[in-house]
Amino acid sequence: MCGIIAYIGLGEAQPIILKGLKKLAYRGYDSAGLAILQENGHVAMHREVGKLEALEAIANNQPLAGSVGIGHTRWATHGSPSVKNAHPHTGSNSQVALAHNGILENYLVLKDELRALGIEFQSETDTEVIVQLIEYYIAEGASFETAVRRTLSRLEGSNAIVALSKTDPEKIIGARLGYAGGITLGIGKGEMYISSDIPAIMDYTDLVAYLDNGQVATITAEGYSVSSLAGDEIVVHTERVPWEASTAAKGKFRHYMLKEIHEQPQAVINTISNRVDFERGEISIPDINMNSQSAASINRIYIVACGSSYYAGLVGKYLIENIARIPVEVVYGSEFRYSDPIIDSRTAVLAITQSGETADTLAAFELAANRGATLWSIVNVLGSQAMRMADGHITMQAGPEIGVATTKAFVASLVDLYLLACLLGKLRGNLSRKSQRQYIRDLLFLPSLIGQVINDSKTYSEIADLFFHFENFLFIGRGINYPIALEGALKLKEISYIHAEGYPAGEMKHGPISLIDNDLPILAIATKDLYYDKMISQMEQARSRGGTIIALASEGDTVILNLADYILTVPITPPYLSPIINIIPLQFLAYFIASKRNCDIDQPRNLAKSVTVE
Ligand code: G6P
Repeated sequence: MCGIIAYIGLGEAQPIILKGLKKLAYRGYDSAGLAILQENGHVAMHREVGKLEALEAIANNQPLAGSVGIGHTRWATHGSPSVKNAHPHTGSNSQVALAHNGILENYLVLKDELRALGIEFQSETDTEVIVQLIEYYIAEGASFETAVRRTLSRLEGSNAIVALSKTDPEKIIGARLGYAGGITLGIGKGEMYISSDIPAIMDYTDLVAYLDNGQVATITAEGYSVSSLAGDEIVVHTERVPWEASTAAKGKFRHYMLKEIHEQPQAVINTISNRVDFERGEISIPDINMNSQSAASINRIYIVACGSSYYAGLVGKYLIENIARIPVEVVYGSEFRYSDPIIDSRTAVLAITQSGETADTLAAFELAANRGATLWSIVNVLGSQAMRMADGHITMQAGPEIGVATTKAFVASLVDLYLLACLLGKLRGNLSRKSQRQYIRDLLFLPSLIGQVINDSKTYSEIADLFFHFENFLFIGRGINYPIALEGALKLKEISYIHAEGYPAGEMKHGPISLIDNDLPILAIATKDLYYDKMISQMEQARSRGGTIIALASEGDTVILNLADYILTVPITPPYLSPIINIIPLQFLAYFIASKRNCDIDQPRNLAKSVTVE
């Protein structure tokens, strides 16, 4: 979703902005643009619809010289994707250029107010209202900074902005109101950056600071200052980014998604290491800030999340309830506020979010904080809002994930949930020493089991050859693997645009069974676990009605040979870890099918990696 980048220093801004925009592209966009404060004092812009290559072509053809610039990738919310709606926007006096991430909820009221003052609008966006208002206050005599502050105080909703002004050419201002995406300051030597997230500036600096809700940053070539909306100075914490700049490159792989699928063994190793002592059979997660007393006081857990993270949460419910015996409810971030959740000081609310910036998840988290819950988060992006808001957190350690369809972060979050369930079980005395040792030992083999599945990718590609032209798919599973049926269906629909549904296998007879015909392949997760026998009978029911069945089965299972039309095998895995293994063939299947349908795998239409609007 919308990405922001800004540069001020001694170098040329345009190439840095263009490079940053490419790094932000993974978030999802439909148009892009940049504005440069030129040496002659004018604000000049390039904006284009579609892929960044279009913007790059025009910018390279007519380069804009200047060392102060901002850029933006847009994911349309107000107004269709078009050049006039692309950011940055300027006001009627062409003094200020502004890029925006979020939704301005009172834009119609402000627009009417500005129109009544004779201001004409050039776009259909809510964003233009912000920049027109800033220019209006400047025309009234306010400085750039004061005009921005006055404007911010009038905005409703979650909004992040970055702006430059010809009236104050040595500054760029960035601000964050609410949860509309992160604003990261990149601190260089004689240059400063602002970006929606770290990968866009990783090539230039590893020293960063993050803006919180209600903070305004002013950057110059020499440094930065941060203040509250009222103008009070705020000292922000700076930190070094541990990730290597190179880890976000595609390398030898055709797509980031494929690269990230292959990175899963390493992601799991990173997630486990330093938390698990295999010799002593112990787990420790210091950042979760929990001891026996605080763990014992929790009597209910809500998991809040969106998209794939929600499905990870469903697996988490199963793990925590079975291993730690605490009741867990999993709620979509976007629904939590409307369910009037029952929360008190004994409730923990766990947000699962790769980006740590999903607006709905953060809004749920805020409600939980206001009602006195203990806040935990499972996040991948270090320093993200969900990490900073939480009383305790567990990082996914998956490294930067660029493909819009999550793979390695999903798997890393499942590992985190497994670790959390074991830790809670241990601290609350619900997990015997023997079981704990066993669960930890099981983890030892996980990375190599994943590697084994990855090595089988040729089989998945062959199955994809047979099924890529179908327009509907059904995924069925039971118990801990029911959420994997949901996630497998989501992977397929989001990148290949095939309609796919995940269903609990036992519910087939209450509806979906009527859909079965030759045009509906059914992927049945039927690995050897507690529900194996039930899955077998459900496959029989589907087959007797003419369904084509692709079974995900355990190695060495001969019974299933007579039941399924096609088989994907995975190694035998301990039940609680089976979702982690079972999702991998489904990721591959979605990838190969989408590839054969020539889809834009890393940036599927209409989707965004980080959804920073509600
Ligand atoms: C978007 C992404 C999904 C992701 C969801 C939640 O829809 O495309 O892959 O699962 O957001 O994101 P989060 O960062 O909160 O995990």
